[in-house]
Amino acid sequence: MNANVITYDPQKTAPHETIANNRRVLLQCRPHGVPKREDFRIEVLPAPVPGQNEILLRTLYLSLDPYMRGRMSDEPSYAAPVPLGGVMEGGTVSRVERSNRDDFEAGDLVLGYGGWQDFSISNGVGLTRLDANIHKTSLALGVLGMPGFTAYMGLLDIGQPKKGETVVVAAATGAVGSVVGQIAKIRRCRAVGIAGGAEKCRFAVEELGFDECIDRHDRDLAKRLKLACPAGTAQRGFLILQSFICGLLDPNLGLRLKDP
Ligand SMILES: NC(=O)c1ccc[n+]([C@@H]2O[C@H](COP(=O)([O-])OP(=O)(O)OC[C@H]3O[C@@H](n4cnc5c(N)ncnc54)[C@H](OP(=O)(O)O)[C@@H]3O)[C@@H](O)[C@H]2O)c1
Repeated sequence: MNANVITYDPQKTAPHETIANNRRVLLQCRPHGVPKREDFRIEVLPAPVPGQNEILLRTLYLSLDPYMRGRMSDEPSYAAPVPLGGVMEGGTVSRVERSNRDDFEAGDLVLGYGGWQDFSISNGVGLTRLDANIHKTSLALGVLGMPGFTAYMGLLDIGQPKKGETVVVAAATGAVGSVVGQIAKIRRCRAVGIAGGAEKCRFAVEELGFDECIDRHDRDLAKRLKLACPAGTAQRGFLILQSFICGLLDPNLGLRLKDP
């Protein structure tokens, strides 16, 4: 067995056990197009030791999100890029392993940005303590976390759809889109999804409750979208935070696009 592989079960291992090596995924070079394995490097070091007023966190769950592609690039952006040789950024659910702070103790579960690594050090800033009794702590990175919050605010605060209106959601089975569609249904809207492939479209309708879902690879996407948003109903479409698909749409479609 490779001694560098940490084989604990994060749900069963108690704090203080098996603090071993720290696997860190570093950004080796800035990717062109789709990131490749060679753009990253895995480094294994001894787990860091928390200093005064610091805590040692063990990553239980790491969320992989689209914004990470932006962090790999040094193009102008609203957020600083990950420096070359730096640990990739990422939202994490972690468990406090050792604490030199009064406000956290070993065993606490927290939401933070520990990055692509097994262990991280925190001074407590930006951490959210999680209720250990929630059904699955990984939900804090999904529907109860940033993607769920984005869906909620994007649809209800910015989109403000009204009962009976049609809400069109791109990347409908993704972390954000799947929640947008379900909230739209709760608000008595018609939910039309756009997703890549038949299986995703089936999932959107049968599992998530979308009224209809269109494969974005369909050559007649614009026509199918128009059919899915029948005139006569209070038609108003939103493509929430998924602006990459706007270029595919027929400008005569009559959908009101919002890209906050
Ligand atoms: N502003 C914010 O605070 C905020 C927060 C969260 C997310 N977002 C944005 O919201 C969007 C969705 O995020 P997410 O976390 O739900 O992502 P996700 O779960 O990773 O879903 C991404 C999906 O986008 C679709 N996609 C990929 N390339 C595409 C292309 N070229 N054309 C059309 N669709 C493509 C794919 O689904 P299909 O193959 O099924 O189409 C992919 O599965 C992203 O743009 C993300 O950056 C913004």
